[in-house]
Amino acid sequence: MEDMKDIQWFPGHMAKTRRQITKSLPLVDAVAELLDARIPLSSRNPEFDRLTGRKPRLVILNKADMADPNVTDRWMQYFKKQGAAVITADSKNGKGINKFGAALRELLKERLEMLAAKGMRGRPIRVMILGIPNVGKSSLINRLAGSKRAKAEDRAGVTRTQQWIKTSDGVELLDTPGVLWPKFEDREVAVRLAMTGAIRDDTLDKEALAARLLALLHESYPAAVEARYKIPQDAEGTGYELMEQMAKNRGMLLGGGVPNTERAAITLLDEFRGAKLGRISLEPPEKA
Ligand code: G4P
Repeated sequence: MEDMKDIQWFPGHMAKTRRQITKSLPLVDAVAELLDARIPLSSRNPEFDRLTGRKPRLVILNKADMADPNVTDRWMQYFKKQGAAVITADSKNGKGINKFGAALRELLKERLEMLAAKGMRGRPIRVMILGIPNVGKSSLINRLAGSKRAKAEDRAGVTRTQQWIKTSDGVELLDTPGVLWPKFEDREVAVRLAMTGAIRDDTLDKEALAARLLALLHESYPAAVEARYKIPQDAEGTGYELMEQMAKNRGMLLGGGVPNTERAAITLLDEFRGAKLGRISLEPPEKA
């Protein structure tokens, strides 16, 4: 896992990333944009379109195992309308990965037919994987590569630049994924990334973050919140007040029966990130 904080997103680093992508782009037939299915907007790189130009695009809605399947379906329609191919994936367990090759072949159908007409049938499809830190790039690559990846790395004397990782279905991946930056300057984006745990929350006010999350969950998934924290679906109040209720219902109390909202905040964030509340999406496509 890469950590957003370990990567210095200073202008020089961003310029270097841009250069690397521009350099690699002519080598690939398509780009695979990895997004977190729970927050497809916030996990996008603001420059993605500009960086990848007219390269055919496969959108992978990753961590789909944790996202609301109905919302994910709507996101699939959204990206299809934009002309991209779309698949969902659970790269942790390898679910959905088998659709990768077929989706790419469909996306590149005309180009592959043209190459076949020129006698270049069977040439592997080459792809670059791109995404922000923690979205699941390494998990996906490992899943797609199976055991072959380790072999490629073991060969002595092979230059680390531009290696291709073969997948089982005729696709080759550029071995180093493009690590992109999110739209940090947008406060809402930073908040959603922190909610899902994509960025560390040690510099954030955990209680404020959790209060916002609880308000959002209570509004969009009231039944899940009631089932787990016994907060009635028609309960009213601010996120902070809901968190006080949650603390009381869970017996998280300080001296004098004061609700321990700090503990409740940590519990809520942990349980949400661990998908204990069920499959939940924080961003519907209607907001895009
Ligand atoms: P990156 O290369 O883009 O930075 O992401 P990486 O593959 O390291 O994945 C980041 C975290 O997200 C990892 O969890 C990984 O297991 C998890 N992950 C990746 N894809 C999926 C997915 O489709 N579904 C789910 N549920 N999780 C996914 P971690 O906490 O760092 O490690 P661990 O819990 O696997 O030990």
